[in-house]
Amino acid sequence: MKFFLDTAHVPHIREAAALGLLDGVTTNPSLLSKEDGDPRDVVREITKICDGPISAEVVSLDAEGMVREGVEWSKIASNIIVKIPMSPEGLKAIRLLADQNIPSNCTLVFAPIQALMAAKAGAAMVSPFVGRLDDIFQGSGMEVIEQICQIFSNYEITTEVLVASVRNAAHVADAARIGADIVTVPWGVLQALTQHHLTDVGIERFLADWEKIKDR
Ligand code: G3P
Repeated sequence: MKFFLDTAHVPHIREAAALGLLDGVTTNPSLLSKEDGDPRDVVREITKICDGPISAEVVSLDAEGMVREGVEWSKIASNIIVKIPMSPEGLKAIRLLADQNIPSNCTLVFAPIQALMAAKAGAAMVSPFVGRLDDIFQGSGMEVIEQICQIFSNYEITTEVLVASVRNAAHVADAARIGADIVTVPWGVLQALTQHHLTDVGIERFLADWEKIKDR
């Protein structure tokens, strides 16, 4: 499973890259609004840190506008993936971009059938939002991931399932168990993935025992 970082915060992206855990980055207008400067410059900088796929989202609601924005985003770097919200206009834009060999990530996916539609339109990735589903229907987020993976497997669909809106380490573990292709995690969740109470206790114990014998 590939690990993406769900942020536009460059210091965190650099840190994740240093950890060797960065396969790609997902941004969206909300994440970019938290950073200073021109969002296009922020995305450009991210593409220089990570050579994996970098998602940048369009804000037009019509296919023509989405394609226009998508083409602009794709000029920034060869690893840009154009993020297109799920809608009939979005599906048209995904097809038109695919025809130009510009890959897209269909976002705001909440139902398995939406994922299938995006895949049929030619999306390179689909982004189901587990956390936002869990917020409304407790526990249903991962069921949607499971169903999408099952459908894609039934028809040997190569569109990648990118688990988004991740809130905790359990979401990441469940995504891996189900066999999702990618998980995109916020910075806080990435840090939590390495932590375990028993690891901390174990380190303390080893250090204490070494103190007893180090000057022998
Ligand atoms: O990148 C989109 C998605 O991950 C958003 O997550 O936390 O705003 O539901 P969240």
